[in-house]
Amino acid sequence: MRKVLEVLKGKSFKIPPVWLMRQAGRYLPEYRETRKHAGGFLNLCYNPELAIEVTMQPIRRFGFDASILFSDILVIPDALGRKVEFKEGEGPVLEPIKPEEIDQLKLDGFLDHLKPVLETVTGLRSELPNETTLIGFCGAPWTVATYIIAGHGTTDQAPARLFAHQHPEKFQQLIDILVEASSSYLIAQFKAGADMVQIFDSWAGILGGDQFQRWCVKPMAQIVKNVRAEIPNAPIIGFPKGAGSQYNGYREATGITGLGLDWSVPMHQAKELQQGGAIQGLLDPMRVIAGGSALDDGIDEILENLGSGPLIFNLGHGITPQAPIAHVEQLLARIRGN
Ligand code: CP3
Repeated sequence: MRKVLEVLKGKSFKIPPVWLMRQAGRYLPEYRETRKHAGGFLNLCYNPELAIEVTMQPIRRFGFDASILFSDILVIPDALGRKVEFKEGEGPVLEPIKPEEIDQLKLDGFLDHLKPVLETVTGLRSELPNETTLIGFCGAPWTVATYIIAGHGTTDQAPARLFAHQHPEKFQQLIDILVEASSSYLIAQFKAGADMVQIFDSWAGILGGDQFQRWCVKPMAQIVKNVRAEIPNAPIIGFPKGAGSQYNGYREATGITGLGLDWSVPMHQAKELQQGGAIQGLLDPMRVIAGGSALDDGIDEILENLGSGPLIFNLGHGITPQAPIAHVEQLLARIRGN
């Protein structure tokens, strides 16, 4: 039985299934070691042998209930012909797109470019324990667009917000291309062996009102519809990080199965959102760095308030490179009671 999939169908467990966003990553010495020999972060993403290895590392060490494909949300712009580089200590760097360049984005050959990632998915499904859920993923169009437009991470996504107001038609065209690319990529991941997918809208919380509806809700709903046309009942978690009060109604408006919650969501709101179906997340990643009672208390609060409903235990965002391995062990022992 794959517990995460059961929770997405509405079931609850005394001991909820648990995995951590960014569970394969720099807090693990074995990841840092493999990364050293991969010759660049994107090479790691496009090398099935190494990508399978780093995806398996946290499963071997901690026995998480789910395994998330090792890749990145920026392989989509890369596959669309926008060169992506990951610079040490700087994060991703792209050539910022100009409005007139959006016509040049090409979908032909796009999936061919991502073949190695699909190969990784297939390899993983055969290597993973039978009861481990395999999660595929992509970034949501808005979040991916913020990197295509600014060319790097920013704190408030001013370049993409401005672009959307100054060139709404061009921005719509970009979002439409990303909807199409993301849909076919997710369908291909399901066909390659993914049990479910998660769509990361890490920058959803920066938009409000009509902009949130237009650039976050509508494209997400369209992707869900496109994927389900090929993969009926496909389980999909949506994670509109930072959406605050806009979390209310988001599941219903988009059609997603499970709702990913960041650490800022108040417990009473999380409880209400759980009435609508499975929720995932909540624990502040800083509690994992802190350890001790900060970690235990955060876990207990989630289990006490949400443990009797459909819950996938996770952090409210990715685990950080500073997280001590002993604290991940503490987290698992606290949840699983061993
Ligand atoms: O274990 C997993 O969760 C699977 C792999 C995964 C990565 N990135 C690997 C990664 C996933 C699911 C992502 C998603 C991702 N990538 C998001 C959405 C989730 C989120 O964190 O909000 C975003 C916005 C990105 C874009 C991205 N990739 C940034 C901004 C950075 C630099 C910041 C950083 O953490 O270094 C990355 C790099 C990245 N992606 C790393 C990893 C393990 C670190 C790079 C390295 O090893 O050098």
